[in-house]
Amino acid sequence: MTDGLRKGLTSYGDAGFSLFLRKVFIKAMGYSDDALNRPIVGITNTYSDYNPCHGNVPQIIEAVKRGVMLTGAMPMVFPTISIAESFAFPTSMYLRNLMAMDTEEMIRAQPMDAVVVIGGCDKTLPAQIMAAVSADLPTVVIPVGPMVVGHHKGEVLGACTDCRRLWAKYRAGEIDDAEIEAVNGRLAPSVGTCMVMGTASTMACVTEALGLSLPMSATIPAPHAERFRLAEASGKVAAAMAKAKGPKPSELLTKSSFRNAQVVLQAIGGSTNGLIHLTAIANRTPHRVDLEVFDKLGREVPVLVDLKPSGEHYMEHFHHAGGVPKLMAQLGGLIDLDAKIITGQTLRDVVAAAEEVPGQDAIRPRNDPIKPEGAMAVLHGNLAPRGAVIKHSAASPKLLQHTGRAVVFESVEDMTLRVDDPALDVNADDVLVLRNAGPKGAPGMPEAGYLPIPKKLGRAGVKDMVRISDARMSGTAFGTIVLHITPESAAGGPLGLVKNGDMIRLDVEKRSIDLLVDAAELEKRRAALKPAAAPDWAKRGYAYLFNETILQADEGCDFDFMRGKGKR
Ligand code: FES
Repeated sequence: MTDGLRKGLTSYGDAGFSLFLRKVFIKAMGYSDDALNRPIVGITNTYSDYNPCHGNVPQIIEAVKRGVMLTGAMPMVFPTISIAESFAFPTSMYLRNLMAMDTEEMIRAQPMDAVVVIGGCDKTLPAQIMAAVSADLPTVVIPVGPMVVGHHKGEVLGACTDCRRLWAKYRAGEIDDAEIEAVNGRLAPSVGTCMVMGTASTMACVTEALGLSLPMSATIPAPHAERFRLAEASGKVAAAMAKAKGPKPSELLTKSSFRNAQVVLQAIGGSTNGLIHLTAIANRTPHRVDLEVFDKLGREVPVLVDLKPSGEHYMEHFHHAGGVPKLMAQLGGLIDLDAKIITGQTLRDVVAAAEEVPGQDAIRPRNDPIKPEGAMAVLHGNLAPRGAVIKHSAASPKLLQHTGRAVVFESVEDMTLRVDDPALDVNADDVLVLRNAGPKGAPGMPEAGYLPIPKKLGRAGVKDMVRISDARMSGTAFGTIVLHITPESAAGGPLGLVKNGDMIRLDVEKRSIDLLVDAAELEKRRAALKPAAAPDWAKRGYAYLFNETILQADEGCDFDFMRGKGKR
């Protein structure tokens, strides 16, 4: 028997002794034989003083344990890495794959029949799902849930779309020091993840659409009692899965479920990061996220959820309006309702149970969408041979077809130093270009794609400009911003060939991004480029592994040897 405590015995060359020894030590914690003979549900603990988004994790864990024990199994909590957006240097994305490796190996190394992963702050859910998919043990995902909203002078505020909006006002001189300080204490009024449709909310909704979490788990606010009841119910489901030995992620994650996830990603006005994470998750399965198919879906799927930054509301309003089940009900035939979820039910059952909330306006019907097309478009052109992404639902309509003069920044540091220089030759019609900010270049593809409007233009009332880069952008950000230009400049992409004053043409309707410089001139510039040397930061340790094996954005930025079949 290789279940429960007998699973994955430590190698001492004598299985009986290995089990004997394991029981000797675990009994030191006071467990009885009755407890130790039960199926085991592992529960990840990502609580950290550095991660306020995960502030309710201890309470969630207690509720999960209750659910597991009520169902006759044994809960065992174990720690993994925790990553918080604003506490990760150089950027949280640099650590996502480390967390995925840590979580996968700890699921594999320790005896458990099912696992509950509890996460939320942007990179954590993707890392945990990548791990769960690779370990392929029955898995229940519990997002920690969004914060409740803040209030300031009668206005409803949310992290961090309003952080950016108000900081831009402060930079433009419209808000003084005292007010920005007051706002600083009001933007995040509770534990939980950012309550706009940022990456955390996006990935929680995508997880629900993939069938890996219980219905409504994406949207219940982090401090609400309902969140802990959901955790208890999740514990019960995990215990049942441990006993039944399924369903495993490999049984739930099908071509249809990935398509459903992409439809939901478009319909919620989701974060561009969601596309990278979903691609990385799919690449650990036999399925793929095809950028062309994703773009085509974007033309068919309307944005129905009215949340910032594409719309007006916040996650708690989405929740009270019926959450992801109601959204999928509104999407109707765009969702494959035969897809299965962790409980063994189908999305048809989930949608049938969706609540009807009279008068709600956070989830629109298909005949009255927020935007007739989906949130994101995939662009190609001589600047982005393998693609680039724009969240056009949060862009300025008048800039979606635009030709402008390039103002180039060599790196994030260069941009930080020069963007506010009064002597910078820049005007509102120019295109701000940031390079060397991709997966290898920065490293870790920081969320620097939301280049600030140069102060002198901000003060003159300019609210948006076309900005392009090989970086990412926070899902909470907005503007006419082209991201994930692939290949990145540090990997020889054509973004590295742009010079100040070149003309760049963006045409979102035609899905194109082009540098208006002839091919012969570009060839000349390419020939003059010096071959890239291995950067100093990448000489040892995790940094070395990262630099050697990180994939580009169109492949999900996983390590090349971590994909489903390993290194190809
Ligand atoms: Fe953690 Fe936004 S900072 S979810």
